[in-house]
Amino acid sequence: MHSATPDSSSPRIVLGVAGGIAAYKSVELLRRMRDAGFFVSPVLTRDATRFVGEVTFSALASEPARTGLYGDPTTPIPHTYLGQHADLIVVAPATAHLIARFAMGLADDLLSATLLASRAPVLLCPAMHTEMWEQPSVQENLAVLRRRGVLVMEPSTGPLAGGDVGAGRLREPEEIFELVEHILRGYRGPLSGRRVLISAGGTRESIDPVRVISNRSSGRQGLALAEVAHRLGATVTLVSTSTLDLALDVVRHIEVVRVESAAEMREALVERAVESDVIIMAAAVSDFTVARAPMKLKKVDGVPTLALVATPDILHELVASRRDGQVIVGFAAETNDVLENAIGKLRRKGVDLLVVNDVSAPGVGFEHATNEVVVLDKNAEASTVTLRSKEAISYEILTRVASLLNQGAP
Ligand code: CTP
Repeated sequence: MHSATPDSSSPRIVLGVAGGIAAYKSVELLRRMRDAGFFVSPVLTRDATRFVGEVTFSALASEPARTGLYGDPTTPIPHTYLGQHADLIVVAPATAHLIARFAMGLADDLLSATLLASRAPVLLCPAMHTEMWEQPSVQENLAVLRRRGVLVMEPSTGPLAGGDVGAGRLREPEEIFELVEHILRGYRGPLSGRRVLISAGGTRESIDPVRVISNRSSGRQGLALAEVAHRLGATVTLVSTSTLDLALDVVRHIEVVRVESAAEMREALVERAVESDVIIMAAAVSDFTVARAPMKLKKVDGVPTLALVATPDILHELVASRRDGQVIVGFAAETNDVLENAIGKLRRKGVDLLVVNDVSAPGVGFEHATNEVVVLDKNAEASTVTLRSKEAISYEILTRVASLLNQGAP
C-alpha cells in the first residue's frame, strides 16, 4: 500500500512511546497513521529505546524520531515546537510511570514536557502488568487525567509479557488507529446518525428525607455503553442515577439526565423513547418503592412498617410502545439458573437482545470494573462475551446493535 503524502493541511500527530514491551506495537500504529496521510512525529522515552529502535521509527515517520530535550538540530526547544503544532498527542504504550508524571505535571524528558507544552487532545493507551494496572495509584492518576479531558483507551485482557494473562494488554494498533481517526476526522462509525438512549445505575426510592431503598449497581456498565456509543458515532442520551464521572470529552457531547427514583427514570425515558433508534436499559430499576414519609422517621416512634408498592416495569412499557425499526436491549442480573431465568425474561420482556449477568460469579456485574455476559438474541441464541472491561463489553453489545439496525430490526 502507498502512503498518502502529508501536506501542510495534514493532521499532525505526536506519537509518544514509553518504555514497555508493547512498544513494538506502536511501530504498526505509526505505519497506519502514515498510510492515512497523517504527519507523525515520534517521541521515544529513553526506556522505549531499550525495546524498539529509534531508526525504525525514523524510517517510518514523517520526520526523525526524537528521544531527548537537548541536542535537536532542527529546534532548540523541541517540546514547545511539538506541543504547539500537534493536532493530537497519542501515547502508546503509556506506562504507569509516564501516566504518573503526566498526572503530576512533571516534565523531566521530551515526552512529558511535550504533553505539558500542548493544548492538543491527548489519547493515552496504557499497557502494563495486571497488578500495576489495578493499583489504586495508577487508577487515581488516570481518573485525574480523565477529569482534565485526557482520553484513555483502556487496555484489554489477554496474554502479557512473561507468559502471564490478565488486564493490561495494549489495545491492538487497528483499534487505536480507529479512535485516532475518529478524533481527527469526525469519524463515521457504525452508529453514526443514530440516536441511542441508555439508562444507567441503580434507582433510589426514598423512605424519608434521609433514607433510601437501593441496590448495588454502580452505573459503570451503562456509562461505558454511553462512552462507546458516542465513540461509534451515535448521538447519545444517558439517563442515569450514577454519581461516577464520565470522561470530560464525552460529557461535552452527550446529553446526561440525572434521575433518582424509578418513577423519575420512567418519565425521562418515556419522554425520549420516540425519537430514539436504540434503547438500552442497563439500569437496575428497583422493583419496589415505598410511600415517602415527609419527615425523618424517628426511633422513638418505634420500628416502622414499610409498605412496598411495585414500580412500573419501564422496559415492558418501552417495548409495548416501540416504534418501527427501534432496537431495544434489556439487561438481566441473575444469581441462579441463569440461562433458564434469562430465556424466560427474554420472552416476557420482548427485547431484541438481552444481556445476561451472572452476578454471583467473581469479577462480574455490580461494583466491578469488569464483566462477563451472555448475549441472547430474539431467538434465544446465546453467545458468551468472556471476562473483560465494561468498555470492551460495550463494544460487543453495540456492534450487535449496529448490525440489527442495519438489518432493519425488528
Ligand atoms: N427493568 C425495568 N423496570 C423495572 C425493572 C426492571 O425497566 N421496574 C428492566 C431493567 O433495566 C433490565 C430488565 O428490566 O433491563 C430486567 O431487569 P431485572 O431486574 O433483571 O428483571 P425483573 O423484570 O425485575 O425480574 P426479577 O427482578 O424478578 O428477576
